[in-house]
Parts: sequence; structure tokens; C-alpha cells
Amino acid sequence: MNILGISCFYHDAAAALLRDGALVAAAEEERFSRLKHDFGYPKQAIAFCLEQAGLRSEDLDYVVYYEKPFVKFERILETCLQTFPRSYTVFRESMITWLTEKLWVKNLISDDLRVPAERVLAVDHHASHAASAFYASPFEEAAILTVDGVGEWATASHGVGRGEKLALRSELRFPHSLGLFYSAFTAFLGFEVNDGEFKVMGMAPYGSPRYLDEVWKLIELEPGGAFRLNMDYFSFHYSSRDTFNRRFVELFGTPRPPSMHFFTTASGYPSYFGPKPPDYEELARRNQHYADLAASVQQVTEEVLLHMARALHAETGQTRLCMAGGVALNSVANGRILRESPFTELYVQPAAGDGGGAVGAALYAYHQLLGKPRGFVMDHAYYGREFSQGESVDWLRSQNITYEIVSAEDGLLDQVVQALLRGEVVGWHQGRFEWGPRALGNRSILADARRADMKDIVNTKIKFREPYRPFAPSVLAEATERYFDLSDACGNWPARFMLLVVPVRPEHHATLPAITHVDGSGRLQTVFRDTNPLYYSLIERFGQATGVPVVLNTSFNLKGEPIVTSPANAYSTFSKSDMDLLVLGNVLVRKA
Ligand SMILES: [Fe+2]
Repeated sequence: MNILGISCFYHDAAAALLRDGALVAAAEEERFSRLKHDFGYPKQAIAFCLEQAGLRSEDLDYVVYYEKPFVKFERILETCLQTFPRSYTVFRESMITWLTEKLWVKNLISDDLRVPAERVLAVDHHASHAASAFYASPFEEAAILTVDGVGEWATASHGVGRGEKLALRSELRFPHSLGLFYSAFTAFLGFEVNDGEFKVMGMAPYGSPRYLDEVWKLIELEPGGAFRLNMDYFSFHYSSRDTFNRRFVELFGTPRPPSMHFFTTASGYPSYFGPKPPDYEELARRNQHYADLAASVQQVTEEVLLHMARALHAETGQTRLCMAGGVALNSVANGRILRESPFTELYVQPAAGDGGGAVGAALYAYHQLLGKPRGFVMDHAYYGREFSQGESVDWLRSQNITYEIVSAEDGLLDQVVQALLRGEVVGWHQGRFEWGPRALGNRSILADARRADMKDIVNTKIKFREPYRPFAPSVLAEATERYFDLSDACGNWPARFMLLVVPVRPEHHATLPAITHVDGSGRLQTVFRDTNPLYYSLIERFGQATGVPVVLNTSFNLKGEPIVTSPANAYSTFSKSDMDLLVLGNVLVRKA
């Protein structure tokens, strides 16, 4: 049985293909269209999924959309009416896009794929999230928590999954949303909503949570794991442009200008920013205020999530938790849930945000609606498109680019390890690209994590990132506990997908300066031989040469661009940056 899942028209559009319950392909549209967070109809991702499975669209038994358009439209209409006339602009814009396109998505799908209308299904947004976590997990039975900005009406839901069935018992409703709460601060701190949330999380360790009392004025905990927002401070319920209002600004001061460089006395002024400005002290002081606010918001968010997790545990008695929704990508909060909530095991799949709804919708149809047995576990993220040696070579030849083919794996790994030891920065393009926002060793930029100057080197050569974006470590799963404060690292699921921040052991801060964040933490990826043998062998060999089986891994893209997909994308990034070595499968390209 072939089921295609689709998510689009809100955040990240994606498609996923399930054959007899096993995921065959999954990809976000941005990887093909090259538009970051592309939310349009995922035509290219769908074409890729069908091609990967060797199917024509007529072979699909079902196509499942990740939310219910009419229910969502009802929420938007109702909210507009309640907040009229302030909502006039959003009302007008919504009418145009909903009445012309979004509402009729099932017809659009049916027409585009030539699948009969009765074979096109729609699943609740939060049911798609819940299914994406539970049915992809290895757990026969688990509690489920979904937390995001908003779906149709729900902003969070919880329940229990058992075998083929999941039961979502309760939900929180718009406008009371932890995702939109976090997004309001993301916008206030000068970042783009639905993109900059990671940056707020990375900025937080530079601050101390001095504004907890103020932040708690905006959100109130309620019994049973619920909470309420104080809507006096927000404007997302009547504006499509603004998320916070004048009272918010009275409470927290002037919003941080998006163009303002971030640095504090703790971070210092990075060399790649250029010469120190004359008003350095004043700018550092202002940034400290924003970092303190980020720390406060992050801490309150963690407390709210812990409140939800504790209530869910009390209600269900489960020891395992599956989480999804954009907020489940908050890897610092995930670390605290594992350490401080009564749950002992956590599963989050790599595309926990809205893109992941495509996988969830397909899994929901297969198990919950059709009652088919489970047998699939998502234990890796390599569901994207692969490029052959022939494709790489043909493209390089067409561009007259000099390359070298290294046929033996040993020779390839030796050359890459030698480059890393020389302090070079390596573009590593291998196999199928990753599902979700993290690069996990198939579309990664690699460097030596042991060098204190490597953060600045990678930033100067490629990323030009602000200090609040720490670089992540990839570590051999079996060696993880030596360097990181994480028990049972091999059994930890979020760590496989770089969705967990844990303390770097204090005695190893000096061993791994390039991946240790200012607060001594690291957002690690545990690497397993059975799910990525080549990447495992590379890190193993680096470990044999240095005694430290850890490499710095950052996503293979230029700032503001989607992660690279094809050899052509990879070469473009390589040539526009000062990266030293490009590895396309077993084809090496060096800087001329
Ligand atoms: Fe969502």
C-alpha cells in the first residue's frame, strides 16, 4: 500500500512516501526550490518521493494532507470577527489566499496527482504531529505531547499511543500558544519568526534570567498542564505582521534592530565582524539586556513545558514520551524534560515542526484509520535524494572543474582526516540528504572540534554567524559519555537527531573548545555505525589519529540559504566560501 503525506501552505512544505508502513522517502520542498522555509505546494518534493519509490501518482492508494483546511479557515474567520476592526488587514489577506487556494487544497491535490477525491484525506494538524512522533518511535506504548504555534485551533495536545492506536485526550486552543509566545520574543529580539527561534535559544546562555517576573506576566500556568497567555501584550491574533504590541514594548523596552550585531563581554567582539566600533561598550550593554531577556524567555518556556510534561505523566503514568510540533525542536528544553520530568525516555523525530506533518499524516492514515500493524522505526534521517558518482562527475566536467576520484574508502577517509588535522574546513556531501532542519553527516561542513580558533575560522570562511549560534559536535555513540554528561547515550533518541543539548563534561571543555557553548553545553549528535557507516568510520578514524572521536558538524549551506541538495548546490557554496576541500561521495574537489 502506497500513501503520500503532504504538508504545505503554512510553514515548511514537505512530502513523504510510505510503502506498507515503512518510510521510503521524505523531503522538504525548500531543498529543491532553494527557497528557505518554502511553504508552497511541494511539487518537487512529491515528484522526488514518487521517483524514489518507483511509482506514478496513479499508483498511490491514498494521499493525506496534514491538516483540515475548513476547520483552520473557521478559526481564522472567527478570530478576525472577534478582533474586528483591528484585524481588517489580516481578514482581507486571508480571504484572498484562502478562498482562492488554501481551502481547496484537497481538490488541488486530487487534480495535480490524478488521484480520485475520495482517496485524498485530511488529518487534524496536531494528530499529524502526534502520529509523526509516536508511530515513528520504537515505543509500543507512550505518552504524546505536541506543542507548536497553531494548527487549526489547537496549539498543544496530549494523549497516549498504544500499538496502532493513538488517543489525543485534550488540547489547548488558540490564542493560548507556547509557540506563538516564543515567536513574539523571537521577533522582538530581531529575528525572523519561524526561523530565528534557534537563535533565541543560542543567545540565552549569554544572559542571566533577570526578567522572569516580567515574562511571567505574559503567561500563566493552569492546572492539568494547561496555561493561558495574557493577550493584553500580543497582537498575533489580529495582525499578520506584528506579534507583540505597545504594552509589550513598555514592559521590555525597544525591540532589538535586526541589523544589530550580537556580542557581549562574554562573547567578545568576533574578528569577522570587522574593526571594533567606537561605541562597543554601549552596544555590549544593550546586547546584554537582550541576552538576559532571551535567557528569561527560554527559562519560562522550559518551565511551561516541564509543567505540561509533569501533568501528562501524572495523568497517564507512562514513562516514555513522544514529542512533536515546532516547540519540540527546542533542544535545550528537551534536555531539561529528560533530566527533570518523570519521563525516562523521549522520542522526537528530526522534522518535528510542520514539515514533519507530512510523515505524520501518512502514518496516521496507515495505522489509526486503516488499522495496519506497526513495524517501522525512524532511527535515522536519511530519506532525501541521493546523487551518484556519475551525476557528480558529469556536472563537474560540464563546468570544467578539476576533481579527483578516490576509489578506496580508506584512502578517502585518510585524505579527509588529514585535511581536518591541517585545520581545513571540509564540505561533506554524501548519500541521501537529511529529513528535517539538522545536517547529520550527509550534508555537513566538518572541522576539527579540538581547536579553539575553529569557531572563528569556520565563521570567517563560511558561515558569518553571530556568536549565539554555537557549532555542534558529532560524536561516536559509544564514546559519548566520555565527553558529555548524558547517561545511556546509545539509547537516547533525540541525541541521534541533534535535538538535545547536554553539558560537556567540565574536564573536556578544553578538549572540545570549538563545540562547547558559553554555558558549557553542547548540542550533540550521536553517530551510529549501522545508520551512517561512512560518517561513523570518518569520525572513528579521526579519533584514532587524535584520541578524540568528535568532529565539528555544521549544516552545509551559506547563511540564509537552505541546506545544499545537489552536487551543483554544494559546489556553489564551496566556491563562494573559503572552504578548503569538497567531498562529493568519493570525488574530491580542492580550491584552485
Ligand atoms: Fe504545527
